[in-house]
Amino acid sequence: MASVSVKNLEVSFGSLKVLRELNIDIRSGEFVVLLGPSGCGKSTLLNSIAGLLDASAGQIWIGDRNVTWEEPKDRGIGMVFQSYALYPRMTVEGNLSFGLRMAGVPKPEIARRINAAAELLHIENLMKRRPSELSGGQRQRVAIGRALVRDVNVFLFDEPLSNLDAALRTELRVELKRLHRELGNSTMIYVTHDQVEALTLADRMAVMHRGLIQQFDTPRTIYHHPANTFVAGFVGSPRMNFLKGRVEQRANSFAFVSDQFVQPLAQYNFVNATGSGDGAELGIRPEHIRIDPDQGTHEATVELVEPMGAETVVWCRLKKQTIGLRLEGDQSFETQQTLRLTFPEQRLNMFDSNTGDRL
Ligand SMILES: Nc1ncnc2c1ncn2[C@@H]1O[C@H](COP(=O)(O)OP(=O)(O)OP(=O)(O)O)[C@@H](O)[C@H]1O
Ligand SMILES: [Mg+2]
Repeated sequence: MASVSVKNLEVSFGSLKVLRELNIDIRSGEFVVLLGPSGCGKSTLLNSIAGLLDASAGQIWIGDRNVTWEEPKDRGIGMVFQSYALYPRMTVEGNLSFGLRMAGVPKPEIARRINAAAELLHIENLMKRRPSELSGGQRQRVAIGRALVRDVNVFLFDEPLSNLDAALRTELRVELKRLHRELGNSTMIYVTHDQVEALTLADRMAVMHRGLIQQFDTPRTIYHHPANTFVAGFVGSPRMNFLKGRVEQRANSFAFVSDQFVQPLAQYNFVNATGSGDGAELGIRPEHIRIDPDQGTHEATVELVEPMGAETVVWCRLKKQTIGLRLEGDQSFETQQTLRLTFPEQRLNMFDSNTGDRL
């Protein structure tokens, strides 16, 4: 177990600066997920921590050691890649032991570590098979096993489940979480662009965009108090509804005013100051909008209904904007039906429309 600190890291490919002034402090034993769209720099950050890429500026610390210029093999890390190239001619046992044999680890110690990893990953009965005789999920477990058998402080995972079908992904996701606990909470840094994986696995998650960490916090805070419109829109499906307007001072409190409606903000907890009349976006998640035939102040027309079993997503027209509602699956709706909606104030997210930052 060790903490990982990245300080003012800058990484470039030729003239392209992929990461700039990047800072992140990961606690010992923490399961941290790096989440972001394709090309945002997740793998670049992970590979830099692993020592597979050189920093053009900044430092990387693992525990109390500055490892910025250390070789990957000296950093005390185990890495699992998206394309887990197993050695095809070796058995599972051979694949697991290869690195240890090369490093001259004594045979009884190799056997002990392999047995422990196999037991953790439930692959004891596969040890004599070759990779071609395994399912995708089993191969992925062997790839994870190869990292586990090494004596490391930090595990790095780069989209280890993305090659698998949805059911297997869910199954291995649960197992990874269990593994983290059973390994006595070893430090894990896990890259994905799957938000469900991030929300379910992470103690804390860093949402990245264009080489910058937009927010680093618990899944709960990221989901309920996103720091800006990018985080708010990227995490959550269907995505958060955004409505454009402005914040205006009314008597003793503020209100959100758009061409379509007025939404009081008397109870909204502003984290950043705003001036009256400033452009703003109101964000509300599809599951937080309430249908209220009596008190509902926002009138919307149903355009499309998507039944999904447990829940139903209803797409409505609110004047000129489309909004999504996520409702219990046992209700039925007709297109062109009029719904009266309320936006509970404690569920609102307000953003500055110029900077995108949370208000
Ligand atoms: N070897 C390279 N040479 C030049 N540019 C690169 C190289 N590797 C990555 N890049 C660029 O750096 C940026 C970040 O790439 P990176 O692989 O870190 O993204 P990512 O977030 O891991 O994306 P994905 O989800 O698609 O794996 C991208 O714009 C990419 O095109
Ligand atoms: Mg990547």
